[in-house]
Amino acid sequence: MRRIKKHPILQSETRKRVNFFFNGRKLSAFEGEILSSALFANGIKIFGYHRKDDAPQGIFCANGQCAQCSVMVDGKVEKACITKVRPEMMVEQIRGEARCDMRQKLPALHFAEVEDLETDVLIIGAGPAGLSAATELGKLNVPAIVVDDKHKLGGKLVLQTHKFFGSVEDCYAGTRGIHIAERLAAEVKKYPSLEIWLNSVCLGIFSDKKAGILKEGKYCLVRPKAVVAVSYTHLTLPTN
Ligand code: FES
Repeated sequence: MRRIKKHPILQSETRKRVNFFFNGRKLSAFEGEILSSALFANGIKIFGYHRKDDAPQGIFCANGQCAQCSVMVDGKVEKACITKVRPEMMVEQIRGEARCDMRQKLPALHFAEVEDLETDVLIIGAGPAGLSAATELGKLNVPAIVVDDKHKLGGKLVLQTHKFFGSVEDCYAGTRGIHIAERLAAEVKKYPSLEIWLNSVCLGIFSDKKAGILKEGKYCLVRPKAVVAVSYTHLTLPTN
């Protein structure tokens, strides 16, 4: 096991152990651990191969942005760096074209069931910029929805154990990134006009000005009066 046992900042892990499989090999992880960490702890750094030149791929951004860490999980493509280990999950390297397991029956999509709602502001991305924007709106009691594809608020701050530098007033100098994320998250949770949607992806904003959002796996449409898009790598925006 290649685990860091002592770390000046991070606590040592005491969670329950679970088993999962990688290319048919039984491995152990902490329950709820991020899959890429569990693979690294088991000495696995190559998660798949690029479909064009077969180059090995693994962890790159470590934050769900690049898809370099994609693996097949129970027949579906998932990013290892933002997927939690589940007991007995079957993980496989991807080589060549990734093919979903078509034996899995996909649920039928019923459009009548799609939730359709309105808000004043839709904030896409719950990193420091998105959370700061949300806080300012919360102070003014403006209804807003904050959408983020991760399970935790803070964006890249949750990866940063170093202390920030610069100005204490403007950018929390002297505080570690992970603690800045906690402070910003605690702040947005104070305001009742703000809704936080984690594990949710904004797929696009369409010509009818509605945003299509996959909220915890369920599709819904949101019509905001304004959009703050601080994280939109793969977002489709209307051209008019
Ligand atoms: S390493 Fe970039 S998405 Fe996982």
